[in-house]
Amino acid sequence: MSHGVCPHWVGYFLVSPLRRLFHNPEKILQPFVNPGMTVLDVGCAMGWFTIPLARMVGHQGKVVAVDVQEKMLRSLAKRARKAEVGERIVPRACTATSLEVPEFEGIVDFAVAFAVVHEVSDAGLLFQNIARALKPGGRCLVAEPKGHVRIEEFQRSLSMAEKAGLYVLDTPKVAGSHAALLRKG
Ligand SMILES: C[S@@+](CC[C@H](N)C(=O)[O-])C[C@H]1O[C@@H](n2cnc3c(N)ncnc32)[C@H](O)[C@@H]1O
Repeated sequence: MSHGVCPHWVGYFLVSPLRRLFHNPEKILQPFVNPGMTVLDVGCAMGWFTIPLARMVGHQGKVVAVDVQEKMLRSLAKRARKAEVGERIVPRACTATSLEVPEFEGIVDFAVAFAVVHEVSDAGLLFQNIARALKPGGRCLVAEPKGHVRIEEFQRSLSMAEKAGLYVLDTPKVAGSHAALLRKG
């Protein structure tokens, strides 16, 4: 069930340095990301994860950062320029039904969907689109805030992911979140 899209102003809280105390991007994502990878950040907002991901993938890698809100992407672009990683990030406005990343289909090594699944109207379709972007064996970390999403709802999301061909590999611990590491195929 969709809880509605988070307003643009909430994006400023999501990139507050204090968030590092419980959502340290390196701690959460480094185990899954190597230099040279192509990474997809679904629902990137202002880039709390996108910018550290850009550092993790290095000069040879790319982070495809998609969001339904153009305003979020504009703020991300500014922050990325300041962090001097703008050239590694491909910001892309997506729609509720498409990630709008045709040129990255089947080549994404790793995707992250952090605090976004509960905002979409069709989670099954979102997982199908993520699965289409991932290469065979590619992985996806999905995390949902415990404050907004009940465990039953998260489990329903995982069933939809499975129907899309994304299978649970692990359930890493992420503060305040339900989390699962999925694998394509
Ligand atoms: C709660 S924020 C989380 C942002 C970021 N992942 C983080 O953890 O800081 C959710 C973001 O997902 C975006 N969003 C909502 N529906 C989406 C969809 N169907 N596809 C892509 N992004 C979406 C919203 O615009 C918002 O920026």
